[in-house]
Amino acid sequence: MSTQRRPAHTGSPNAPAPLPFSGEPAYFGLMDSAPRETPDDDRNPLHLLSLDALRRRTSMKWRTYPEDVLPLWVAEMDVPLAAPVARAITDAVALGDTGYPTGTAYAGALADFARTRWGWDGLAVERAAIVPDVMLGIVEMLKLITGPGAPVVVNCPVYPPFYQFVTHMDRRVVEAPLGGDLRIDFAALEEAFRHATTGGGRAAYLLCSPHNPTGTVHSAEELTAVAALADRYGIRVVADEIHAPVVAHDTAFVPYLSVPGAENGLALMSASKAWNLAGLKAAVAVAGPAAADDLARLPEEVSHGPSHLGIIAHTAALRDGRDWLDAVRAGIDDNRRLLAELLADRLPQVRYRPAAGTYLAWLDCRPLNLGDDPAAAFLARGRVALSPGTSFGTGGAGHVRLNLATSPGLLTEAVRRMAAAVD
Ligand SMILES: Cc1ncc(COP(=O)(O)O)c(C=O)c1O
Repeated sequence: MSTQRRPAHTGSPNAPAPLPFSGEPAYFGLMDSAPRETPDDDRNPLHLLSLDALRRRTSMKWRTYPEDVLPLWVAEMDVPLAAPVARAITDAVALGDTGYPTGTAYAGALADFARTRWGWDGLAVERAAIVPDVMLGIVEMLKLITGPGAPVVVNCPVYPPFYQFVTHMDRRVVEAPLGGDLRIDFAALEEAFRHATTGGGRAAYLLCSPHNPTGTVHSAEELTAVAALADRYGIRVVADEIHAPVVAHDTAFVPYLSVPGAENGLALMSASKAWNLAGLKAAVAVAGPAAADDLARLPEEVSHGPSHLGIIAHTAALRDGRDWLDAVRAGIDDNRRLLAELLADRLPQVRYRPAAGTYLAWLDCRPLNLGDDPAAAFLARGRVALSPGTSFGTGGAGHVRLNLATSPGLLTEAVRRMAAAVD
C-alpha cells in the first residue's frame, strides 16, 4: 500500500497537477430560466433548478409517481449540490479515491460544526463512530443497549422508519403521543416509560430531535427533563439529530448530549438531510461520556458500511458548506411563511403550525373531511404527492406531511393542486 498520497488541494510548489476536471458542479445548464423573484435569488439553492431538470433525477422523490404528479413527499431537497461538496466528490473521483473509509475526519468536522454552530464542545472524536446511515446507526445503538423483544419508546406521530426498523430488529415500539401543542407530553412520556419498564428488562427511548414530522425543536429545559425522567426509569436515550443543522435562524438547536443528565445517551448525526446527501451514505454515532463503553462494543464491521465518497461529501459539507446551508435555511424560512399564506388563501380549513425545525410541514387536514388519508385524495384528484399522515403512527390520521425544500413556484403550484382536489 502506498503511503505517498498527497492531498488534492495544496498551495505548495509540489502540488499535484490539476485534476482532469475542475469539480465545478454540472448543473448550470439545468437552471430555471424563468425571471427571478428577487435580486438575491441567485444565492438561494432552492431557486435554482427547473422542473425539467428535477424530473430528470432518478431518485425516489422523482421516480415513485408518474410524470404528471408534483412530488413534495420524501425528504429530498430540490437543490443542486453545494459547490464545495460537488468539488470534493469530483476531486475524489478524479483521483480514483474510491476505496474504503477510515479515520475521524467526519467526526472532526461534526465536532467543529457543533462547537461553532451550537456552542457545544462535548463532541469527542474518540467517542464517535462512523455508521452506514442514521437509521442503521439507530439499529446498532439499540442493539448495544437493549436485547431482543425490548421496548423502544417513540413520540408519535413520528418518522415512519422508527416503527419499521425497530420492529424489523425484533424490538417493540411503545408510543408516547406528542401533546396537542406538538411538543413532548411529559405525562404521556412517563406513562410510556412506566409501561416499557414494567417487568424489568432494558428499554430505550428513541428521541427525534428536531422532531419529524412536526418540526418541533426541543428546548434545553425539555431535553433536561427527558434526561431526568429517563434516568428515573433506567431508560437509555438514543437521539436522532439528523435534522439538527436545518433549524430556523431565530431558534437554538440544543444537542441532547449537551444537557445535564444526558451523559449515558447516544446520538446519531449526519449531513445527509441538510445538504441533500441521502444517496451518499454516511452518518456518525456519538456517545456521551457514560456511554463510551457501550459504543466501544460496536462491532468493527459496522464501520465498513458507510460509503467513502459519502464520508468525503458529508465532511466537505460540514466544513465548507456553511454559507450554502445558511442560504437554504433562509429559503426554508421563506417557504414556511409562503405556505402559511397560501393555505390561508386557498385552503383556510387546513391547520398548519409553522415550526422552527426541519423542512417538513405537518398539515392537519381533518376539517376538509377527506378521511384518514387526505394524501390519497390530493394525489388522485390534485396530482400532488404528499406523505400520508397514517404512516407516522397514532395521531397521524387526517394529516399530511409536505416537503418545503422546493422552489416557491413549485410550492405555490402544490397548494393550487391541493385546493383543486377539494374544490
Ligand atoms: C428523523 C430522520 N431520521 C433518519 C432519516 C434517514 O436518515 P438516513 O438516510 O441517514 O438513514 C430521516 C430521513 O428523512 C429522518 O427524517
